[in-house]
Amino acid sequence: YRRLRVALLGAGSVGSQVAALLLKHGDELADRAGAGLELAGIAVRDLDAPRETDLPRELFTTDAETLIMGADIVIELMGGIEPARTYLLQAIGAGADVVTANKALLATHGTEIFEAADQVGAQVYYEAAAAGAIPIIRPLRDSLAGDRVQRIMGIVNGTTNYILDRMDTEGAEFADVLADAQRLGYAEADPTADIEGYDAAQKAAILASLAFHTTVPLDAVHREGITHIDASMIESARKAGFVLKLLAVCERLVGQEGSEESGEAISVRVYPALVPRVHPLASVHGANNAVFVEAEAAGNLMFYGAGAGGVQTASAVLGDVVSAARRHVAGGVGVGESTLANLPVVEIGRV
Ligand code: NDP
Ligand code: HSE
Repeated sequence: YRRLRVALLGAGSVGSQVAALLLKHGDELADRAGAGLELAGIAVRDLDAPRETDLPRELFTTDAETLIMGADIVIELMGGIEPARTYLLQAIGAGADVVTANKALLATHGTEIFEAADQVGAQVYYEAAAAGAIPIIRPLRDSLAGDRVQRIMGIVNGTTNYILDRMDTEGAEFADVLADAQRLGYAEADPTADIEGYDAAQKAAILASLAFHTTVPLDAVHREGITHIDASMIESARKAGFVLKLLAVCERLVGQEGSEESGEAISVRVYPALVPRVHPLASVHGANNAVFVEAEAAGNLMFYGAGAGGVQTASAVLGDVVSAARRHVAGGVGVGESTLANLPVVEIGRV
């Protein structure tokens, strides 16, 4: 096999699991990829921080820039905007393909990163950036490319679903379950991103951009979080036959003002909604996510599974690594992102 050097940036909840699985299943992944995958190093902030998995100490470095320069594939699992953005651009500039789970970065600087990759024929893989382990990026970008998506609706944040579910089923306190979600590795480094709906809004922007072949700016996404929800609201919802869920809804609106070309617009919004207990979304428990896609020809599709968690998310990351390795072996050129239609995004009331 040709050997490919893989650089990992970050060894937290997700990165430590990616490294462990890459070392454990390296031979098997090499067979699937058609290339050996050599974990060249792991960049972190603190060399002495405790890790969730047992990893060789000699792999760790605080010098991310040097690690990136010698890599064929760079996996960014640090989170945040900087220095993740700079490192990804450096990796792309150096000819590497990149894999990232960083929805905060893609929802704010995605265009810059995809354009940089297009310019040098590199590829950006980001299956883990929305809905954790659930394959949803490729289905929207590739499998449904011949169809016309009308609507996406779902639960795309594991932390808030975990909190609302335990408040509903156990009468647990918001602060206690948030602390559990952090301990279990579901929450973002700053959990405000989860509980105020920023993380779900970032994912909704990414999913809507793919589904509607446009660019949805984050500030066009209507966002409400769950911090105002207390036990009495959960109880009232239960008595009325509902459960509270943080939903993301992305819709194609036909005949809306604002679009010069097609008379179409889109709406993307994140808010806590009353879901009837008989609805399938009411049965999404714990840190699971579910995404319903309505497409013109395919009809209704449902994607369900772990929306957060280190090892679960590592599955999606490693799938991307295998895809990147296969592309390297095939000598592929950049596929690029979808053609942008510039559909306007409008804010409308709740549906
Ligand atoms: P963590 O906060 O657990 O880990 C972050 C890692 O990045 C740590 O190892 C940290 O180093 C390292 N790091 C942070 N800043 C720097 C820096 N400036 N230089 C070098 N290393 C740095 O994050 P997660 O693993 O939870 O998440 C990683 C990414 O995956 C995020 O973008 C997140 O949104 C996304 N994601 C997370 C999911 C989850 O369930 N946790 C699911 C899907 C996506 P050190 O350990 O030394 O502090
Ligand atoms: N903090 C995120 C969540 C991680 O809870 O869904 C997965 O993207």
